[in-house]
Amino acid sequence: MSKITTARLLAMKQERSKIAMITAYDATFATLFEQAGAHAILIGDSLGMVLQGEESTLGVSVADMAYHTRCVAKGTDKALVVADLPFMSYSNPELACHNAAILMRAGAHMVKLEGGAWLTDTITQLTRQGVPVCGHLGLTPQSVHVFGGFKLQGRQQDQAAQIKDDAKVLEAAGIQLLVLECVPSPLAKEITELLTIPVIGIGAGPHTDGQVLVMQDALGLTTGYVPKFTKNFLAEQGNVKAAISAYVSDVATGRFPGPEHSFN
Ligand code: KIV
Ligand code: NA
Repeated sequence: MSKITTARLLAMKQERSKIAMITAYDATFATLFEQAGAHAILIGDSLGMVLQGEESTLGVSVADMAYHTRCVAKGTDKALVVADLPFMSYSNPELACHNAAILMRAGAHMVKLEGGAWLTDTITQLTRQGVPVCGHLGLTPQSVHVFGGFKLQGRQQDQAAQIKDDAKVLEAAGIQLLVLECVPSPLAKEITELLTIPVIGIGAGPHTDGQVLVMQDALGLTTGYVPKFTKNFLAEQGNVKAAISAYVSDVATGRFPGPEHSFN
């Protein structure tokens, strides 16, 4: 695998070659996932739940994110390293630039933030100053208390239209990648076709340009509720690297996600 850049991800969309992203929070897993062929590694603020044992991502700090970003960056050489800006760390453009700089200096190649059109100025400022941005729409877990739980988004027509509009506005503002979480497959398909930039889905069906999973879900390291859209790839494989290789190739061939992992 050659070095994965934002330009390479865009080319992959144009070539219809599927992008496999997975979360990692440390050097060991990040190295194994890169060796397994993952194109992008996300240091997700999901670490609040899977590492810190919290019930949401709201308690995660920029310092937490920087620490894990540094660990992952040390373990990777080729994959694109994307780090989440955590809750309230990008509530205005200045704060976003300050905190994005911390994550970029820790080794991120791109930062991800959750939300729609209100982020326009923030995205413009970040990209102008050299920080590539990944958007995140649909179920945005930092807003769990506004949603009233971790729920499928975009089921109603007005909600779907809002997500579509937001996707267009974010692209116009300069995002170079978009994560769509927990939305009906037909909506994800429409947005994927609407945008020039690659769209990465989780619980968004098979039609997006790529997929992302939380590593614990992909390896069956689940302790409580197991979301419908995940799959334990370790169950059919002998070790972690083989499991993630299977994930990457199942994403590439379209074997994952299947209808049983999607909302229609
Ligand atoms: O924090 C995270 O792991 C994420 C992915 C689920 C997209 O944002
Ligand atoms: Na996240």
